[in-house]
Amino acid sequence: MAISTGNRGVVYTGPGQVEVHSIAFPELSLGKRHCQHGVILKVLTTNICGSDQHMVRGRTTAPSGLVLGHEITGEIIECGRDVEFLKVGDIVSVPFNIACGRCRNCKEGRTGICLNVNPARPGAAYGYVDMGGWVGGQAEYVMVPYADFNLLKFPDSDQAREKIRDLTLLSDIFPTGFHGCVTAGVGPGSTVYIAGAGPVGLAAAVSAQLLGAACVIVGDMIPERLAQAKSFGCETIDLRQDAELPALLEQILGVPEVDAAVDCVGFEAHCHGSCHHEEKPAAVLNSMMDITRAGGQIGIPGLYVTEDPGAVDEASKQGNLSMRFGLGWAKSHSFHTGQCPVMKYHRQLMQAILFDKVQIAKAVNVQVISLDEAPKGYADFDGGAAKKFVIDPHAEFAA
Ligand SMILES: NC(=O)c1ccc[n+]([C@@H]2O[C@H](COP(=O)([O-])OP(=O)(O)OC[C@H]3O[C@@H](n4cnc5c(N)ncnc54)[C@H](O)[C@@H]3O)[C@@H](O)[C@H]2O)c1
Ligand SMILES: [Zn+2]
Ligand SMILES: [Zn+2]
Repeated sequence: MAISTGNRGVVYTGPGQVEVHSIAFPELSLGKRHCQHGVILKVLTTNICGSDQHMVRGRTTAPSGLVLGHEITGEIIECGRDVEFLKVGDIVSVPFNIACGRCRNCKEGRTGICLNVNPARPGAAYGYVDMGGWVGGQAEYVMVPYADFNLLKFPDSDQAREKIRDLTLLSDIFPTGFHGCVTAGVGPGSTVYIAGAGPVGLAAAVSAQLLGAACVIVGDMIPERLAQAKSFGCETIDLRQDAELPALLEQILGVPEVDAAVDCVGFEAHCHGSCHHEEKPAAVLNSMMDITRAGGQIGIPGLYVTEDPGAVDEASKQGNLSMRFGLGWAKSHSFHTGQCPVMKYHRQLMQAILFDKVQIAKAVNVQVISLDEAPKGYADFDGGAAKKFVIDPHAEFAA
């Protein structure tokens, strides 16, 4: 019954290098055990993420040979025996978190820290360092375990194909940006500062608007990315200028603080001002405490690591950052970290897309590319392109 065919995927081959290789066709197995709760997907779209770039830049302990890709949308071509509620032909969004649906954290909806899918630590993802060794989905075919629990089925296959550029963002960045805003307490009338105008920052900005924010301000050092934020109604701050962030916010808001702040940058943060070419890992975290109102919340989807071989100083190599935590304490700030539990949000955000309440693909500037163009996509993204690259492995959606 298994459909055996070839497979190709994007493989990390060492710092600064990704290549498209022939890889094994996925099987419904977990080591020596059958994986009857899994499905095999023909991948329809699979996106390149800023999180992949941390690995490709050599800033993690990712092993050479890792098949990359955790942002996956696909069509089911084979179901394991125990899959009850999905069938061959369904088009589905795969949350980047792999979750068992049975453990304490999954039962509480905290699927980003599932206890059963990664022997090394809580939480797993496809194609990611320290995330359980699962094969990534920047490929033609991939296996997804615990399919009934993990997958979001789109109600209509034709409509799903038509809106694939938007729906492809449900596997990670749209829920992640939304979660960043929810955990920062964004609601109707909020003023919001978003650090980073990469795809996650732009998705957070759209999410803040969807949640009713009064004013959304996005800061970055890349003018093209800031222009992208401006294109859908955000205020922007170019952080290359030598001015203090509170003063820059005051020019926009009349006060030097915001109600809510979201860090969409993470541990490779750069310094603000004329030193913007230099890394300063705690730059965003410290500025968030400066500018968030007393009692406010800080959402931190930006990734922080426990090991960074390329860090600027010894302490940061172990993830020890120089934070002015006393300031956050004095202002009674709440900090919310961790992987986004995608499943908490993907159905609602799918509905917002299907009913045309949000234009997420346009906001993050989706560009569809072929599998063979993936290495160039990685390079362009790393070079600061104001784009979200979406790989189309079977050449079905190229514009
Ligand atoms: N928590 C999660 O579940 C989750 C999911 C997806 C991505 N992420 C993380 O979110 C972060 C953003 O992802 P992305 O794809 O948008 O990455 P990206 O690298 O494209 O974007 C980061 C942006 O931050 C900017 N930047 C650098 N220093 C800055 C500073 N001090 N202030 C403001 N902007 C600054 C960069 O110029 C860049 O445009 C990454 O760390 C990624 O790993 C986390
Ligand atoms: Zn991602
Ligand atoms: Zn679990």
